[in-house]
Amino acid sequence: MKHSILITGAGKGIGKAIALEFARTSKNNPDFNPVLLLVSRTAGDLEKTADACRIEGALVETYTADIADFAQTAALAETIISQHGTIDCLVNNAGVGRFKPFGELSEDDFDYTVATNMKGTFFLTQKLFAAMERARKGHIFFITSVAAEKAFKSSSIYCMTKFAQKGLVETLRLYARECNVRITDVMPGAVWTPMWGDVPEEMKSAMMMPEDIAVPVVQAYLLPGRTSLEELVFRPVGGDINE
Ligand SMILES: NC(=O)c1ccc[n+]([C@@H]2O[C@H](COP(=O)([O-])OP(=O)(O)OC[C@H]3O[C@@H](n4cnc5c(N)ncnc54)[C@H](OP(=O)(O)O)[C@@H]3O)[C@@H](O)[C@H]2O)c1
Repeated sequence: MKHSILITGAGKGIGKAIALEFARTSKNNPDFNPVLLLVSRTAGDLEKTADACRIEGALVETYTADIADFAQTAALAETIISQHGTIDCLVNNAGVGRFKPFGELSEDDFDYTVATNMKGTFFLTQKLFAAMERARKGHIFFITSVAAEKAFKSSSIYCMTKFAQKGLVETLRLYARECNVRITDVMPGAVWTPMWGDVPEEMKSAMMMPEDIAVPVVQAYLLPGRTSLEELVFRPVGGDINE
């Protein structure tokens, strides 16, 4: 069966791992034929992810878009709906963070983080949820964070936007339950991705890897439609780092 799956931030890190896991799963499951719709701002990264997914036999389309820009988000959603009618799955993964002490965060840090994590996630979801609502089917994943419910000292703006995403998850669930749409809040702790930049080897070895998140996300999607895995919380076995 054909499944159209849109993943934001699929060029790197956790989003890339989720795209690859959907593709790999299709290889071993003849009834699962994903069409992966991959979104990020960097075309070159998207093409690398797309090539790796195509090697596994998945159909892939790439869309270069900045979800922080309302016009680009609206155009993206319109293109997707006109080409696919609705989508079966949206993975709201694209996110950014600037990590500094509270007093050092600037207006630019604020606007940049809020525009992607809050505004972009909100409006892309709003536009694609409308199609799911009409179709009375769909599954939306939000890759929020353990920082959506726990404070970290150098993460005030990031935590603010992740707590906000959790507010959106909980509110949208009230609508989703009325139209047979599943919502999964994925809350990882530290995962080794480009988001962290250069970190010491010792710190890296204390982190999770993107595939640790990707495998359960795909399994949650493949659960029978009657069942919604509502929350997934992941932590390094030694607990949170950078408390
Ligand atoms: N890594 C962790 O420890 C961790 C833990 C908990 C939660 N998370 C969350 O998991 C998600 C993925 O994080 P990650 O660690 O995989 O980050 P990452 O390695 O920096 O990758 C982020 C991806 O999102 C894309 N992106 C960022 N802003 C975008 C925008 N405005 N429009 C379109 N695409 C955009 C990036 O591509 P371009 O730059 O090319 O656009 C990239 O492909 C984020 O929401 C993050 O908050 C991460």
